Amino acid sequence: MHPIKTISVCGAGTMGSGIAQICVQSGYPTLLFDLNAEALKKSIDIIYANWQGLVDKNKISEAECLEFKSRFTFSNNINNCKADLIIEAIIEKLNAKIELFQQLEAINPINTLLVTNTSSISISSIAAKLDHPYRFAGMHFFNPATYMKLIELVKSDHTSDALIKLLQEVAVKMGKTAVISKDSAGFIVNRVARHFYLESLLMIEQGNTSIESIDAVLEATGFKMGPFKLMDLIGIDINYGVSCIIWEALGKPKRLKASVIQAQKIKQNELGKKTEKGFYFYGIK
Ligand SMILES: NC(=O)c1ccc[n+]([C@@H]2O[C@H](COP(=O)([O-])OP(=O)(O)OC[C@H]3O[C@@H](n4cnc5c(N)ncnc54)[C@H](O)[C@@H]3O)[C@@H](O)[C@H]2O)c1
Repeated sequence: MHPIKTISVCGAGTMGSGIAQICVQSGYPTLLFDLNAEALKKSIDIIYANWQGLVDKNKISEAECLEFKSRFTFSNNINNCKADLIIEAIIEKLNAKIELFQQLEAINPINTLLVTNTSSISISSIAAKLDHPYRFAGMHFFNPATYMKLIELVKSDHTSDALIKLLQEVAVKMGKTAVISKDSAGFIVNRVARHFYLESLLMIEQGNTSIESIDAVLEATGFKMGPFKLMDLIGIDINYGVSCIIWEALGKPKRLKASVIQAQKIKQNELGKKTEKGFYFYGIK
């Protein structure tokens, strides 16, 4: 396998934007791809504003900002998605991901490495549909990707050790810590964290306390964010989807059942920060 010199990121939503930004900042010429031109434009505006913010805070110079911009390209045409490493961060739907990876395999050479940022889909279920599954793995960033230090590298039975080694090198270059997980429901973090969310939601369902109190208690004990603030940041729909997938994959145990409160929020399109309302309100009052 070749060393990784260029990166493409597919999906310019919450995660893809942050991942593309950190790839550029880590020195990789990076192309950001999204089918939706409007989503792509929004993402570019956010990334440029973030870099300007770093200039304003004297964290980078004007020259570095220009250098970042010169390494950053974008497109809404998949045929431009050619790189040594392609990081997929599109919607959390198995068939959409399989279709995208099959297109990427068709337009890229054999030495292009392919990874998915999925939070909850089985890596093996995607690998099974690829021509060369040894060059495919999970590379799971956390939200916000520019800030969170952890990356889970997820192996299917076919993922080659050489790929994991190259991904570890990329993680180091990004200033991140990579841990390796076998392909299993929720990998490490999302499995362990289920109780953080679900037990808190259950306490609200049972009328025991308030969301503010639970967030305050957990923040006071050292968590950067309480569960309700974190669900609002992640997206209640995304968090709920992860819960459902893990619950199904582990044989529907009662202790991991997704909360009706989240289902109601999704029905009302109160998805968190991205819709300006979730457990908290983020719009102009
Ligand atoms: N949100 C989180 O906190 C978080 C954390 C870790 C991992 N993830 C994972 O990252 C992935 C993306 O999540 P997100 O929160 O950024 O989603 P998002 O909804 O914010 O963004 C998804 C983007 O993908 C684009 N897209 C959809 N289908 C596409 C296709 N076929 N080709 C190109 N672009 C396409 C959409 O236009 C959208 O811009 C998911 O797999 C999710 O499980 C999310």
